[in-house]
Amino acid sequence: MEIETNHKIIFGDSRKMDEIDDESVHLVVTSPPYPMIEMWDDLFKSLNPKIEKIWENIENEEDEEKKEKNIIKIYNLMHETLLPTWEEIYRVLVPGGIVCINIGDATRKVNGIFRLFPNHSKIIEHFEKIGFVTLPYILWKKPTNKPNAFLGSGFLPPNAYVTLDVEFILIFRKGKPRKFKPKDPLRYASAYTKEERDKWFSQIWEDIRGDKQIHPKIERRTASYPEEIPRRLIRMFSIIGDTVLDPFLGTGTTTKVAIELKRNSIGYEIDENLKPIIEEKIGIKQKRIGIDFNVEFLYRSKSE
Ligand SMILES: C[S@@+](CC[C@H](N)C(=O)[O-])C[C@H]1O[C@@H](n2cnc3c(N)ncnc32)[C@H](O)[C@@H]1O
Repeated sequence: MEIETNHKIIFGDSRKMDEIDDESVHLVVTSPPYPMIEMWDDLFKSLNPKIEKIWENIENEEDEEKKEKNIIKIYNLMHETLLPTWEEIYRVLVPGGIVCINIGDATRKVNGIFRLFPNHSKIIEHFEKIGFVTLPYILWKKPTNKPNAFLGSGFLPPNAYVTLDVEFILIFRKGKPRKFKPKDPLRYASAYTKEERDKWFSQIWEDIRGDKQIHPKIERRTASYPEEIPRRLIRMFSIIGDTVLDPFLGTGTTTKVAIELKRNSIGYEIDENLKPIIEEKIGIKQKRIGIDFNVEFLYRSKSE
């Protein structure tokens, strides 16, 4: 089916997505910065100065109880920093539009205590407050060659910890399911096979390896997800010609896959340093044969 698609990449903060009209996006596929994972501490501090202040106070605080409260405060503030983006998603989604969020929980030793920060449950709580319908989620268990890292000493109970070896793909919908005309040709052209359905709609995905996290062009790890994640989700929850949004675009994985699957897309990324990596990934310099698409880069203040 011949179809031309359009792709916008906006360098800006997705807590405000004024470039997108209300009810104009069909699917959101994204992976936000994970709260309480060390690599994102500085980003959260820069997005929310309150977080920076409380971290500083923790270091000087002597009262254990106050210290504990402040740790929980930081965790909650990190999630509150993501909240405006989640609210914007609700505004821009069409009724029946779907959201898929790849998130991992965090474990961390703070104030001398090892603990879990269950990011997935906090996100579910926030989405339900906004008014989304929660749907059954997927557990992405990355295959590994290594035996599990074991957090504890030897074989003596009871103080060892279970290893975090799954990430979540949380799924939500805005209201009731989307409606389509009978025999909608684009919907029929987007069908998956029986094998795909049986594999993709089961709750544990065990066959997808993590992506490489190091890129010579940037200093920090990219935190990119493998293409197979958005590839499945886009095919499961949208049809050809739909618009897919990623408010935390990173290296452009969602855009790349949206192009291949003949969906339109919009991506937001706050870090302009990622532009060359995005360009390389989506291959705008060598247009792919048989795929007709336009890519536009926009900046909050200027456009090109
Ligand atoms: C976990 S990474 C996403 C990786 C992406 N899925 C990929 O495959 O490359 C999260 C990204 O969100 C960006 N980010 C964080 N907060 C943002 C915000 N408020 N607006 C736009 N981008 C943001 C970060 O700079 C980072 O690149």
